[in-house]
Amino acid sequence: EGRTIVVASHNRGKLEEIGALIAPFGLSAKSAADYNLPEPEETGTEFEQNAYIKAFAAAAATGLPALSDDSGLCVDALGGAPGVYTADWAETGNGDRDFMMAMRTVEEKLQALGAAEPDQRRAAFVATLCLAFPDGHCDFFRGEAPGHLIWPPRGDLGFGYDPVFVPAGKLLTFAQIDPAEKHAISHRADAFRQLVAAVL
Ligand code: IMP
Repeated sequence: EGRTIVVASHNRGKLEEIGALIAPFGLSAKSAADYNLPEPEETGTEFEQNAYIKAFAAAAATGLPALSDDSGLCVDALGGAPGVYTADWAETGNGDRDFMMAMRTVEEKLQALGAAEPDQRRAAFVATLCLAFPDGHCDFFRGEAPGHLIWPPRGDLGFGYDPVFVPAGKLLTFAQIDPAEKHAISHRADAFRQLVAAVL
C-alpha cells in the first residue's frame, strides 16, 4: 500500500502507457476509476495547470500520491494549437470524441496556410506529468517528442493523434510503430525519465 500510486486519468491509452512506464519500479498503479473519482474540469490554459488540477484532486480524494498527465499536440505553424485544447478539438458535442475529425481539423488549417513540406508541418507532442501528494506538494516534469504531421493518417496502433504524427528521424507514424518503440521516444517517456531521475 505504501507503494501504491493513483494514476489520475480516465484515458485508457494514457493509463496503459503510464502503467507500462511505472511497472518496472515496483509501484502498483490504481486508476482514478478504481476509486470512482470524478473527472475534474480542466480549466487551465497551460499543461501544468491542468496536470495539477487532476493530480491534486486524486491525491486529496484518496490520501495517496497521484500522478497525472496533461498532454497535447502543438503545431508550430498554428502557433502551438491545439495545445491544451488537443482533446477538445475531438469533442463531437454529444459527449463523444472523434479523433479522425480532430486530425482533419488540424490538416485543414495546415492546408489553408499552404503548408506542404515537412518543415512547414513541424509539430511536437508535449506531456506534463504532475506528481501530487495529499498535503498539496507537487512536482512537474515536462517531456516533448518533436516531429511532423502527415496526411492522410496511417496506422491503427496507439491512440489520439498518433496516425498523423511522424517522430523526428523516423518514417512511420506513432500509430505504425510497435508500442514499445513509441514508449522509448514518446513525450510521455521523456517526461517520465525526468520523474524517475528526480524521485524514484
Ligand atoms: P488531456 O487528456 O486533456 O491531457 O488531452 C490530451 C490529448 O492529447 C488526448 O486526448 C490525445 O488526443 C492527445 N495525446 C496526448 N498524448 C498523445 C499520444 O501519445 N498520442 C496521440 N495523441 C496524444
